[in-house]
Amino acid sequence: MLLSGILGLLATADVVRAANSWIVPGAAWQSTSGTKIDAHGGMVMKRGDTFYWVGQSASHNEQPYMYTSTDLLNWTPAKNPQNAIQYMWRPKFAKPNGSFWIYGQVDRNVQALKSSTLTDNYAVAGSKVTLPPSGYTYSDTGMFMDDDQTWYLLTSADHNNVQINRLNSDGAIGDRVNVLAKGAYEAPGLFKVDGIYFLVVSGKTGWRSNPNQMFWTDKLAGGSWNGPYSIAPDAEKTYNSQNTFELTVTGSKKTTYVYMGDSWDSKGGPDSNYVWLPMTVDSKGKKVSLEYHAQWKLDVATGEVVLPSVKRRYEASEAVVQGGARVGRRGVIGLSSDSKITFRNVTGLGGRQWVQLHYRVADREAGEVHVIVNDGPAVNVSSLNHRAGYHDVVPVELGLREGAVNTIMVGATGNEDAGIVVEGIEVVED
Ligand SMILES: *[C@@H]1O[C@H](CO)[C@@H](O)[C@H](O)[C@H]1NC(C)=O
Ligand SMILES: *[C@@H]1O[C@H](CO)[C@@H](O)[C@H](O)[C@H]1NC(C)=O
Ligand SMILES: *[C@@H]1O[C@H](CO)[C@@H](O)[C@H](O)[C@H]1NC(C)=O
Repeated sequence: MLLSGILGLLATADVVRAANSWIVPGAAWQSTSGTKIDAHGGMVMKRGDTFYWVGQSASHNEQPYMYTSTDLLNWTPAKNPQNAIQYMWRPKFAKPNGSFWIYGQVDRNVQALKSSTLTDNYAVAGSKVTLPPSGYTYSDTGMFMDDDQTWYLLTSADHNNVQINRLNSDGAIGDRVNVLAKGAYEAPGLFKVDGIYFLVVSGKTGWRSNPNQMFWTDKLAGGSWNGPYSIAPDAEKTYNSQNTFELTVTGSKKTTYVYMGDSWDSKGGPDSNYVWLPMTVDSKGKKVSLEYHAQWKLDVATGEVVLPSVKRRYEASEAVVQGGARVGRRGVIGLSSDSKITFRNVTGLGGRQWVQLHYRVADREAGEVHVIVNDGPAVNVSSLNHRAGYHDVVPVELGLREGAVNTIMVGATGNEDAGIVVEGIEVVED
């Protein structure tokens, strides 16, 4: 065999996909088929030991796409597309009777789909409807199942109200049980803790993120809403995301509530990612706050949050620094187009691996950081993780060779006004 052939095989083996080990808010998230997960404005439902994720496929005319998982990390595409429907926004599952249903927005009306199986063969069920009782058109869809197994459809009407309607057992949209009319909100999600209903909503700012808010009530049917309350520091704009659903995971030791948000690109397109974060919920004090982690996962058996613990750190001050950048008090400062930082002999496990880039950018308009692994192409960090420049720890998934043989170069586009400070990198090994 030709040497080049062998090297080619090795190069392919180099980047064989290992299973996903982490939920990484803002990062591109790959399915078990190696495709980017494409299910935005979605929802996750658990049945048995399996989680089912439905969302709109930005690269397939907003058809409802589905994925299944048993660990919330590794998602296998279901047979897609699910049906003939296109341009259905924010599809959500429900099971008001023996059939499986998807409800979403089509032409600012509610369209229902129905199937006898959860992941396949959905067909249009009935015609599009405006919202009873007022016949409002609407934008976003949410879904909630109460303890008594009654399903509720949440909608944000174009009339600036968030409306909650019961789903009847024939799948029809039933009575309006509550409405939030306290401003311009959309993207509603509802969850219940110790008898308190927490409603999470976004402001209306198109594809740009805003500080999402929480309202609460102790009575779903007719109760009045208290709020708004912040769920994260306002300046973080919900960590660059917009709410879509709140998932409750009940484990043997703990119940964890997960905020599921979309990290939209500039037009809600295929570059959009996801921001999932555990929430701290204080049902007595009526507080909900997102617990920010650059990288985390949930032990779905115990319900506990797990963070990476095995990391190898490389300091920028000990790397090879070339060009105008120089070692400052807290790392390498002044990174711009004319300079680069090269980390040599970085140990890899062989395959795709998370590398946390520890850096800050004072002015994101003035400069952008990229990485080059083993003389490969330059890749902008923002194309791997939407948190690039917005947070001091940005995990990116890179293909590393096995052993202390990798070279990771960190460079930038832009000038010194960007105020880029690189502290170092941490290669995650668990
Ligand atoms: C659920 O309701 C729909 C609409 O009335 C009906 O077509 C379907 O057969 C029902 N499913 C079951 C399993 O009862
Ligand atoms: C990376 O970002 C810079 C702007 O900061 C842009 O000029 C360049 O085209 C981007 N590179 C890629 C590969 O997208
Ligand atoms: C770094 O790795 C190269 C092989 O890529 C090797 O030749 C060199 O000895 C290593 N240096 C150290 C300090 O381990």
